Amino acid sequence: MDAKTAHDKARSLIEEANALGGDETVNLIESHIAHNYGLLSRDPVVKAEGAWLHCKSGKKIFDGVAAYSAANLGHGHPLVREALKAFLGSHAPTVLGRFMADPYLALFGRKITQMTGFDKFLPANGGVEGPEAAIKLARRWAHQVKGVKGTPQILYADRCFHGRTLTVTQMFDEDDKVARQGFGPWPEGFKRIAYNDLAAVEASVNENTAAVLVEPIQGEGGINIPDEGYLRSLIELGKRHNFLVIFDEVQTGWARTGELFCWMHEGPEARPDIMCIGKSVSGGFAPVGGILANDELMSLFGPGSHGSTFGGCPISSCIAYAALNAIEEEKLVEQAQKKGEWLMERLNAIAEKAPRIKEVRGKGMMFGIELTQDGPDGHHFTELLLEKGAIIKDTHHWVLRFTPPIVASKEDLEFALGCLEEVFVGQTADT
Ligand SMILES: Cc1ncc(COP(=O)(O)O)c(C=O)c1O
Repeated sequence: MDAKTAHDKARSLIEEANALGGDETVNLIESHIAHNYGLLSRDPVVKAEGAWLHCKSGKKIFDGVAAYSAANLGHGHPLVREALKAFLGSHAPTVLGRFMADPYLALFGRKITQMTGFDKFLPANGGVEGPEAAIKLARRWAHQVKGVKGTPQILYADRCFHGRTLTVTQMFDEDDKVARQGFGPWPEGFKRIAYNDLAAVEASVNENTAAVLVEPIQGEGGINIPDEGYLRSLIELGKRHNFLVIFDEVQTGWARTGELFCWMHEGPEARPDIMCIGKSVSGGFAPVGGILANDELMSLFGPGSHGSTFGGCPISSCIAYAALNAIEEEKLVEQAQKKGEWLMERLNAIAEKAPRIKEVRGKGMMFGIELTQDGPDGHHFTELLLEKGAIIKDTHHWVLRFTPPIVASKEDLEFALGCLEEVFVGQTADT
């Protein structure tokens, strides 16, 4: 196709999207896309900037979940956007067989290992590929290094969330029928233990244990924050009993909790053997994720043992390289610390006046607002908040997750606090 035809055709594709009405958009999605997600709003989002989503109807919505922490840098961060434009203008390849050398992968690799302090990065596409790769690596380590003769065992926690591939689907709580029912049989070699319970780890560890896999704060499970020292002690136990520790930082990573990674709150002794990352590593511009580990461990993955066509491809690597630079330039960790402290005070002040709020818990800019169970559940409040103009979304029925973009200004955050105040204090009589 010649350049002029491509230019005109591309414009017409964008115009086609712009011309699509609200109902038409929803009807097409419902007709042609699998119904594995429900829509909270029927008003399509046509533009996103910083902390704000702009809808077809003209309504502006504050993204109080930052696209599940994929937009810690806000939507459309200018540094990533400009890097992407320049990348496309340079005619660099967007995808290459990984058997070819790519300068963007080289720069991304150097940057991510420098920032995290691990020797090696294994790139992947999106969050769930992290735990998947980590489990493979832990099993190989168990067979080849630890010398496990039977089935290597992975311990995982109650109320965890590691994504939705087959391996990790069994990890949903047994009463979560929607997530689990009809997907068995489950892969062998996994055991559920209580979260935030070191005795449960000790009681379950045996000579076949390959790894313990946990989130440093459980996000999807309701913003469950373990006791101080839990993460560090897991590492100690791992050393004592010869098993690996995997921290899934897909949601807690990239400054969300007020440190670059959540385990860092407990100091260098809490560094895991394998760390899973995703979401904001791409500034929300592309599905990027992966795992980090030291040389010795990562060397168990040789050519042919793991990989994917798009994992670490040039366009993703360029985007992620720019996003990591933006995380530093924005001093995202400091922003999360400062705004997080201020938000916690403000949220607690609202909670004191709101009979339906049982507790506010959080770290950095990752908050859970737990409701009392004597009235409508979290979904009802999510809908009320959306009417006011903020996405603050329920999880596990009784917890509202508030994880706004870390770059959101105080004025933006005041707006979200105002919505919470109106819904929980202004309207308590109605609920
Ligand atoms: C802790 C954790 N791990 C893994 C995932 C899966 O990420 P993705 O949905 O990008 O596959 C998520 C997603 O929310 C998550 O919170």
